[in-house]
Amino acid sequence: MNIAIIGCGGVGKALLELLERQQNLLAKENLYINVKYIIGRHDDARVALADPELDAAVILTPTNKDNGQPGLDYARAFLSAGKHVVTADKGLIIHGYRELQDLAETKGVKLAMGCTTGGALPSINAGIFDMAGSSILSIEGILNGTTNFILDEMEASGCEYADALAKAQQDGIAEADPTLDVEGWDTAGKLLILTKVLMDERVTLDDVQVEGICRLTAADIQRATENGCRYKLVGRAAFDASGKLKLTVKPEQIPEGNLLYPVGGKNKAVRYVSDTLGELVIMGGASGTTPAAASVLRDLVSIHRKRI
Ligand code: HSE
Repeated sequence: MNIAIIGCGGVGKALLELLERQQNLLAKENLYINVKYIIGRHDDARVALADPELDAAVILTPTNKDNGQPGLDYARAFLSAGKHVVTADKGLIIHGYRELQDLAETKGVKLAMGCTTGGALPSINAGIFDMAGSSILSIEGILNGTTNFILDEMEASGCEYADALAKAQQDGIAEADPTLDVEGWDTAGKLLILTKVLMDERVTLDDVQVEGICRLTAADIQRATENGCRYKLVGRAAFDASGKLKLTVKPEQIPEGNLLYPVGGKNKAVRYVSDTLGELVIMGGASGTTPAAASVLRDLVSIHRKRI
């Protein structure tokens, strides 16, 4: 499989390493991935687009929540050229999911986005494949590792929010602009993607009521602990009593016994409630650039296996 990597930052570099490291494993299923092009911000993509031997584009441009660019134009161009697209960029799915999916279908290629809703956490693909033939009625999740780590750290050490954030940045899990994490926009983007793809709802970021964790103090965290609860930043898509879909992201006090209570550190979790398959909770998955790259690789393998 000949691929082009568009945007080669932390996840791209981790992917290059991983392709080398997993070579033998991939060879067992006759998958040989050759990185034919690496396309950076100032490079011309035209040669790659016109290359009949190129099979897939891996789009790793940074998420732009306002308009999905430049990832969105790359995805349009590579799908139009008949190449599979695998992406970790949430912005292009938030702003172009329906259009890109239709384009992929017209061209007979695949659009894979397993990395966009929690990296290693098999959230969106599990929803697509393992809840097929069932309607997802609500989605609830801890979808951001950075904020979960910060809240955990504040609870464990009694430190203030700013100190815990500095630690998350040192660990490399926070977004380049960490306000996207702590103000809830990363969670909102992931929730939106899950809702669009799995519930087939035409929603935008403006429909999500978003509140981050910046205002929580060490004293708030301690009070929650005394009440047998833990603060978690929860993203939720559910219908209210009048049948209207409500999308919210906000810090919630989760009581002990709730399935989201033990989700600690950089871990994430998602809970789907469906009409015929019951309730499904998926939890865990490593965080960081290598696990994110591994979830991109997982999508490439799934395309090779014709599972996507
Ligand atoms: N910054 C994100 C997180 C990782 O902390 O979960 C990419 O989605």
